[in-house]
Amino acid sequence: MERIKKLINTCVQNGTLKKIVLSKPKTDEDGKKISKCACTLVKIRSDVMLQIQTTYASGGAKHENISKDSAAEYVCGLFERMYGQINVVDLGGNAESRYTKGGKLLFYSKIKETCEKVNVTGQNRAKDYILSKDKRYDFLVALGIQDESGRIKDKKQSKFRQINKFLEIISTVTKYLPNDNVVIWDLCCGKSYLSFAAYYYFNFILNKRTVIYGVDLKKDVIEYCDSLSKKLNYDGLIFLHGDINKTPLPEKPDMVMSLHACDIATDIVLNNAVSNSAGVILSTPCCQHELAERIKSDDLSFILDYPILKQKLSALVTDAIRCKALKESGYDVTCLEFIDPEETPKNTMIKAIKTSNASNGAGYKALCDEFNAVHHFDNLF
Ligand SMILES: C[S@@+](CC[C@H](N)C(=O)[O-])C[C@H]1O[C@@H](n2cnc3c(N)ncnc32)[C@H](O)[C@@H]1O
Repeated sequence: MERIKKLINTCVQNGTLKKIVLSKPKTDEDGKKISKCACTLVKIRSDVMLQIQTTYASGGAKHENISKDSAAEYVCGLFERMYGQINVVDLGGNAESRYTKGGKLLFYSKIKETCEKVNVTGQNRAKDYILSKDKRYDFLVALGIQDESGRIKDKKQSKFRQINKFLEIISTVTKYLPNDNVVIWDLCCGKSYLSFAAYYYFNFILNKRTVIYGVDLKKDVIEYCDSLSKKLNYDGLIFLHGDINKTPLPEKPDMVMSLHACDIATDIVLNNAVSNSAGVILSTPCCQHELAERIKSDDLSFILDYPILKQKLSALVTDAIRCKALKESGYDVTCLEFIDPEETPKNTMIKAIKTSNASNGAGYKALCDEFNAVHHFDNLF
């Protein structure tokens, strides 16, 4: 037990711990059957603590926050009394300890001795999320991301991170938006997780009155989003069913956002945003098929001869043409990694801030011609 305790202490103190999982529960707690227990580092105000989340077979969970200094002792106490196995996942590797049927304690570690030297990046440290894991949000419960008690459902952890990452990116552009009465369009909004989160962020965290219009082709999805918005009394979160090309919205946008609008729908989104003078655009493109069907380039035939490389190159060129069109329309353009690439390959975000007047679009048009791409943005110049 001392070896796993020492190892946990090192991982916790160094901040290199990714998670600890206690499994094979030997006993119940107060008559409640335990399903499993997971521990991660979290930042609570200025302190990093180990958060222990015990999940019960009947649903529901208990959270405990333990100081870094007491963490190893506490977790090993739980392991000894209540569980058959403990797994430690650290930046330096994994370790496991478990009891055999005969009650013998086994210990394996592939965590490098040098784990204290692992360079911990911000991504792996306990994060200051805009939405806290410890708070219950009505909209996250309504969207099925949290359960009634406020626990983030296991299968929705990645969606929760995605929402938080999106809010983090929004927080970098609020300075380009009006101080009050902000208008946002979410085009191709789908289930609208981000519209709900952005609405909450602007109206209830930043206290800026904000109206968000979500538009999508899917009638049933729009009706569902509309019913949730009414249930939550989000008066300024308005959903419209229709094609983003043909659905006029009552107010011009200060910001247009769009997540994973399929294929050329992203071009329509960007075109609409620029034509309607949006000051800020946040868009994560989705599958980019159009160019792969028609791309031509003698110089790049050594790539285009291979279908998978051709597909990847076409996606990159498509996004680069979009960025060029936005740039020549007077936007300052950045491409970001939206979330961890391990979570989805569709993780490039185009962030554009209007800073100057449009040019004649010559660079954009030349790029389209060079690769035989459709000119989606000629009307902007
Ligand atoms: C991959 S889903 C993404 C949905 C949502 N933004 C999200 O990230 O969860 C793409 C959505 O785009 C919508 N869509 C595609 N073309 C559209 C168009 N021309 N007008 C409106 N919605 C469109 C589809 O109905 C679909 O809901």
